[in-house]
Amino acid sequence: MKTPSAARATSRLLLTCALLGITYTATLAAQSNDAEINRKVEDLLRQMTVEEKVGQLSQLGGMPFIPDSIKIDERVRRGHAGSILWLSDPKAINRLQHIAVEQSRLHIPAIFGLDVIHGFKTIFPIPLAMAASWDPALVERSQTVAAREARASGIHWTFAPMVDIARDARWGRIIEGAGEDPYLGAAIARAQVRGFQGTDLGNPERVLACAKHFAGYGAAEGGRDYESVYISEDQMWNVYLPPFQAAAEAGAVTFMSAYMDLNNVPATANRFLLQDVLRTAWGFQGFVVSDANAVGDLVTHGFATDKQDAGFRALTAGVNMDMASHTYLDHIPALVAAGRIPMSLIDELVRPVLAAKFKLKLFEHPYVDESRTEAVFNAPEHRQAARVAAQRSAVLLRNESAALPLTKDASKSVAVIGPLGDSLNDMLGSWTTFGLQSDAVTILQGIKYKLGSASKVEFAPGVQIRKQFVSMFDTMLGPKPTPPWTEDQSAAEFAKAVELAKRSDVIVLALGQAATMSGELASQASLELPGRQQQLMEAIVALGKPVVLVLVTGRPVNITWAAAHVPAILEVWHAGTEAGNAIADLLFGDAVPGGKLPVTWPLSVGQEPLYYAHNLSHDPKNQDQRYWDEASKPLYPFGYGLSYTSFSFTNPRVSRKELKAGQSLEVSVDVENTGSRAGDEVAQLYIHQQTGSASRPVRELKGFERLTLAPHEKRTVRFQLGERELRYWNSAAKGWVVEPAKFDVWVGGSSDAPLHAGFTVTR
Ligand code: BGC
Repeated sequence: MKTPSAARATSRLLLTCALLGITYTATLAAQSNDAEINRKVEDLLRQMTVEEKVGQLSQLGGMPFIPDSIKIDERVRRGHAGSILWLSDPKAINRLQHIAVEQSRLHIPAIFGLDVIHGFKTIFPIPLAMAASWDPALVERSQTVAAREARASGIHWTFAPMVDIARDARWGRIIEGAGEDPYLGAAIARAQVRGFQGTDLGNPERVLACAKHFAGYGAAEGGRDYESVYISEDQMWNVYLPPFQAAAEAGAVTFMSAYMDLNNVPATANRFLLQDVLRTAWGFQGFVVSDANAVGDLVTHGFATDKQDAGFRALTAGVNMDMASHTYLDHIPALVAAGRIPMSLIDELVRPVLAAKFKLKLFEHPYVDESRTEAVFNAPEHRQAARVAAQRSAVLLRNESAALPLTKDASKSVAVIGPLGDSLNDMLGSWTTFGLQSDAVTILQGIKYKLGSASKVEFAPGVQIRKQFVSMFDTMLGPKPTPPWTEDQSAAEFAKAVELAKRSDVIVLALGQAATMSGELASQASLELPGRQQQLMEAIVALGKPVVLVLVTGRPVNITWAAAHVPAILEVWHAGTEAGNAIADLLFGDAVPGGKLPVTWPLSVGQEPLYYAHNLSHDPKNQDQRYWDEASKPLYPFGYGLSYTSFSFTNPRVSRKELKAGQSLEVSVDVENTGSRAGDEVAQLYIHQQTGSASRPVRELKGFERLTLAPHEKRTVRFQLGERELRYWNSAAKGWVVEPAKFDVWVGGSSDAPLHAGFTVTR
């Protein structure tokens, strides 16, 4: 008879064998599927003319206003449209797909691509907010919903995730990424790819992911969108590339080359990025699409001599598909005919495009079932997922004397004051053209639903906020601008808001930025609250009544005054379709904030660029005196966020004091909920390599876990530190190194965590 432990061992062995067996069978199936796809791709390639091949490398704008001498129907018929973008109506998509499949010579379906960034019909919080959840599983689930809705509309490909590291809050597109940190960024990138693509692209509820903008776009000088970036090799590998590598490793089928110059070579013709890094170092097998018009714009950059040269340089650098500029269509066939581009290179670039179509099963099922679209759009579980996502991405920045949560009893009259209090579009954020505005719940509505008829909930905008410059995105995608208030109107609205505050029990100040104030071409030189919001806040706080500041933004803004004078500050970002309901849940304690900042929050704009993982310098003692007119410490550190309960971290320990390169160790810590209500804490692990052949950042995030703990519950959190976490790219060695050195370890609830341990990597 077997002892219990022998029995356990046997059953573990059997289980392992069974799992290995399944994996082995699955691998064989995948291999034979790949072989089958390769055979089909080669079969097609043999039949294709050079124009048809270049057609597969071309993505055409499907919108009627895109100027084109040859109408899109005819282009599709001729096989000129490997992909079509910016269409979202299933009828329009099916119409063009019928032409591609039934009227083009080789019947190759088109891939329809669109920016489904944080939801399609049901809008989730903006990506920066989703990163603030520090919850990759939540991010994955949200993008699964986005994929399902997009696919129900006929979209096969999203231009997401945007995984650009952003360390400058002036840059408008900080809203689209996961913030400043490569480790967090990589975790969120992986989760998004899994959410969009799942494990089987043949599943009709999945879409192709596209990691963008490859690479370094977030380091635009001065935060000015599209400007050149200059990034050292060291910074490139250690900071900007890891989220892209994570996306590639998670199986992202496509990448998008960025617009800007990277170290003076446009990313769209950059062989270092597209060959050395993406294909050689990472073994990427998918395809690269340019950013919109970026191939043609190589001429505008002052890089290519003319469009033909632009096409030549982008294509030979490794851009498979030309987004919207028609440069490939117009010039590549002639370059092939002239023998300047070998057909073998064209074939190599076409293969992954055709393979993606086979993997998506587009040849078998090219059309979208229009009768299903509405049902998928209206699935109640999608809205519920959006509500949970909005709850989990909010960050509680301040909560003096437990000002939050509010109680229903003490809120018989509530004043919602501020320009973001009842604004549908501003709940949604950027890239939400296809989310139907009328579906969103505003803060005012959410609080009204929550309190019902037992309370009086009133609204006054108080001030108006407007952009000084209106970009083409605002005109194309944004809501119609409201006419500016006259001076008299402004004074009257301001007074009305103060009057409302005076006669209310509680004031919810809804301040921040309009959705169009962040995003592409929406960088800022100032981080002050736009309009007269600061004055409004000061006037309301002066009344001495209970005030809560609900911040609606796509980036950090200057709230230094508020951080000293407003008892409670809740950053809710642009929280999506269910914003108002989720915010009301948080304000009244039906949900507990547990998000943490994915970016360091500045005191003022002069501190930007700002990030926690800076180097020590020769003068770390005076780190807070880097300016004489401003502290250099941020207002809130990276990883910071409060809860309605409290947590303690104790007993940090390492499984070994010494290890060699290639070995790993475990760091563990006990986390306890020391308060009286359940809540979430994000346990974070930071390391610092004390010495080496390069200076290393003061702290680097190398592990995190979001936990839900019941009152007084205590749990041990364990982190593994292995080669991946301990290595860094050393530009002198031109490679990854794990160096013999002493390492510090900190664990806790933010990048300021004081709890310390250490270990040594020996020779
Ligand atoms: C943006 C990309 C986007 C593309 C297509 C560009 O302007 O930079 O992020 O995917 O347009 O809409």
